[in-house]
Amino acid sequence: LSYPGGTAEFPLLPSVDGAPSMDISAFTKKTGYTTLDYGFVNTAATKSEITYIDGDAGILRYRGYPIEQLAASSSYLEVAWLLIYGELPTESELAAFDERIRRHTLLHEDLKRFFSALPHTAHPMAVISSALSALSTYYETSDDPKDPEHIEITTIRLLAKLPVIAAYAHKKSLGQAFLYPDNSLSFVDNYLKLNFGNLAEVYDIDPVLSRALERLLILHADHEQNASTSTVRLVGSTGANLYASISAGINALSGPLHGGANEAVLEMLGQIRDSGEGVARFVERVKNKEDGVKLMGFGHRVYKNYDPRAKIVKESADAVLEHLGVQDPLLDLAKELEQIALEDDYFKERRLYPNVDFYTGVIYKAMGFPERMFTVLFAIGRLPGWIAHWREMNLDPQTKIGRPQQLYIGPGEREFPR
Ligand code: MLT
Repeated sequence: LSYPGGTAEFPLLPSVDGAPSMDISAFTKKTGYTTLDYGFVNTAATKSEITYIDGDAGILRYRGYPIEQLAASSSYLEVAWLLIYGELPTESELAAFDERIRRHTLLHEDLKRFFSALPHTAHPMAVISSALSALSTYYETSDDPKDPEHIEITTIRLLAKLPVIAAYAHKKSLGQAFLYPDNSLSFVDNYLKLNFGNLAEVYDIDPVLSRALERLLILHADHEQNASTSTVRLVGSTGANLYASISAGINALSGPLHGGANEAVLEMLGQIRDSGEGVARFVERVKNKEDGVKLMGFGHRVYKNYDPRAKIVKESADAVLEHLGVQDPLLDLAKELEQIALEDDYFKERRLYPNVDFYTGVIYKAMGFPERMFTVLFAIGRLPGWIAHWREMNLDPQTKIGRPQQLYIGPGEREFPR
């Protein structure tokens, strides 16, 4: 769309040096055109068959199946298959998929030196993204992004190895020994054991916690063109392999406005508790936009209604804490905060509802994960979605290298002063 000259409605504004520039915001707001698109602010141009969201109605479906039903009755691997291959697997397809993943959980022993070279204070998100990039160096001869067999084996390796890498990032931060995967266990039980297995002499997997974690992974498995998924698609569109693309997605996820929000919510709740000021006062400070005071875990770029995932997470938080017999004052604070905000016109008018990050941290904390691991759990959940999007984009012969459109708004040609 060109905008050669100003009109009365959309005037050209004088810029600092006198060269004309445009009042873009008025222009795009009034016309609805999406000429100015800071990166992926407007994602309407991407087509996909994977996930459907209706942000006004609060609906989320993977490949047409409602998230509520998948969270209630599916396993993580079943959902991974659904996202990646487009259909629910048959019993034998799922069994073969599960078996293949179990066979690929081991990491190359040399990677231990990679982990030991990093400081123990490293954020686990930085550790897992680096480790995924490093992984590609071990599989260079089988990671051709255009070879379907290579794509298959890389898909399996990523699903099998990311949880192990994530558990090692956790162990590393605690200075504890790495455990070998126990492939007699299910995907989620194996992951729990890798994280907590050496904390008790005989480690019994708690089926309630295992199912709660599985449900959380399913809820996070895809969310159409969010920042990290768009990143995976953009990096993948250059012909970069799955390891490189997903490592980039993990970096995008690490920001506090994206996956890092679950960690930030718990920090916020901790600050409210420690300040002793009470939730109502905190809410006032949010409304007054006081410096540094931000309500985390509320609002969403797409949802103008309750995030359907948040409803399920809230129920899970109650069930997990009750099961463990844990009284977490942070959960009580979260509920109070939610109630006050939902009844307040300020939040109602802005249609700010709790999102998926609001209650997840409380559950992860009750399970024994440190705050810095929360976003890593999001990444494990999101992995099948990232793989599905990379494959959808990469296997489409129409795909071209991505390149966001730029609208230049700087000065016109200037005379060089010297
Ligand atoms: C997500 O699940 O990725 C987050 O809710 C962010 C988003 O969808 O934009």
